[in-house]
Amino acid sequence: MKIVMLGAPGAGKGTQAKMIAETYGIPHVSTGDIFRANIKGGTPLGMEAKTYMDKGALVPDELTVRILLDRVAQDDCKNGYVLDGFPRTIPQAEVLDAELDKLGDKIDYAIDVEVPDENIVKRMGGRRACLSCGATYHIVHIPPKQEGICDKCGSELVLRDDDKEETVMKRLAVYHEQTQPLIDFYTKKGVLKTVDGTVDSTDVFAAIRGILD
Ligand code: AP5
Ligand code: MG
Ligand code: ZN
Repeated sequence: MKIVMLGAPGAGKGTQAKMIAETYGIPHVSTGDIFRANIKGGTPLGMEAKTYMDKGALVPDELTVRILLDRVAQDDCKNGYVLDGFPRTIPQAEVLDAELDKLGDKIDYAIDVEVPDENIVKRMGGRRACLSCGATYHIVHIPPKQEGICDKCGSELVLRDDDKEETVMKRLAVYHEQTQPLIDFYTKKGVLKTVDGTVDSTDVFAAIRGILD
């Protein structure tokens, strides 16, 4: 099963993608997590990506596509995957489509997690992220068991550098301009499914299971 998660920054793509990955036994592939792991490790890729991410801009397609195709070519992706944060532009979606086509394959579901912009800004200030394993929490809605510590791996939780309010506003604008057109793209392919992302995360997941089961 090959799934693409769509939705604005902070809509809950990562939260849902992790639950999908655990439930259906497929890897969760997040380009944002890959970039953040590289930033943390101080790699050249990380240094380059950071210059874009900190401004709320997109990392250039060419670089992002290369990283993503490398990742999905790995063995654990043979039986499917859930993509979170990719594709984010029409050119990215077209490359992915062409690569899958070569393998006689395709995306089975594009799940759009819908949340209005007003809710997004409120959510982001409360987000805490684990840069070691990619887990995401919210200080009010989805708190870790121990404050400031990741439940999954015990690392310290941080506020992401791009979660400052003005950067969130910029990311939202970029989303509407460059990523939202993918909703049309996947509607035309007949694979788009929409879920309400404003309800509790377990209820969002119940709706997603209703689609995938
Ligand atoms: P990325 O890491 O993908 O960030 P994003 O799309 O901006 O999305 P977020 O991770 O911020 O939000 P999310 O939808 O995953 O929400 P989450 O589950 O955390 O990308 C970061 C940057 O990397 C980009 O800006 C770009 O520069 C670059 N990049 C990445 N991919 C790229 C690509 N393909 N091309 C070019 N550049 C790329 O939830 C948010 C918060 O809400 C959390 O605190 C969570 O606990 C909470 N929450 C979740 N669900 C609920 C709920 N139902 N109710 C209440 N709270 C909830
Ligand atoms: Mg995310
Ligand atoms: Zn962790």
